[in-house]
Amino acid sequence: MERTQAQQLIRAAFAARRFAYTPYSHFKVGAALLARNGQVFTGCNIESASYSPTNCAERTALFKAVSEGVTEFSAIAIVGSREGEVNRIVTSPCGVCRQALFEFGGPELTVIMARSEEDYLETTLGELLPYGFGPKNLELD
Ligand code: THU
Repeated sequence: MERTQAQQLIRAAFAARRFAYTPYSHFKVGAALLARNGQVFTGCNIESASYSPTNCAERTALFKAVSEGVTEFSAIAIVGSREGEVNRIVTSPCGVCRQALFEFGGPELTVIMARSEEDYLETTLGELLPYGFGPKNLELD
């Protein structure tokens, strides 16, 4: 993806990260999901006192989009670190989010994992979830 477009998406992910609700882990994540129609949906992680209902930033963004009728995506940017810190390594999407994204993005989805607008890794969902199980396996595509 073009650098300026990646940086725009990273900036949107950082803006969403400010709303992360993380009283338990203090690890704040932001995601910005670019739809094929050009719309950007953002999300943050939302934790729960009973822990397991916690929703990752990536799925927050994805579910916001799908719940508004948008189901085709080209890229997602993810930023994450503990409150007030910059991590040495990028935040990569967890296994559950990889699977959830695969449902709509498929292996072509561009995944940008960023520490800053200048320092990021770009890969695809197919690289992160090889041989992913999806709608094609149920012949529903
Ligand atoms: N988390 C995300 O939101 N996305 C990721 O890609 C990794 C993990 C959240 C879940 C939890 O609120 C916190 O980060 C620590 O695991």
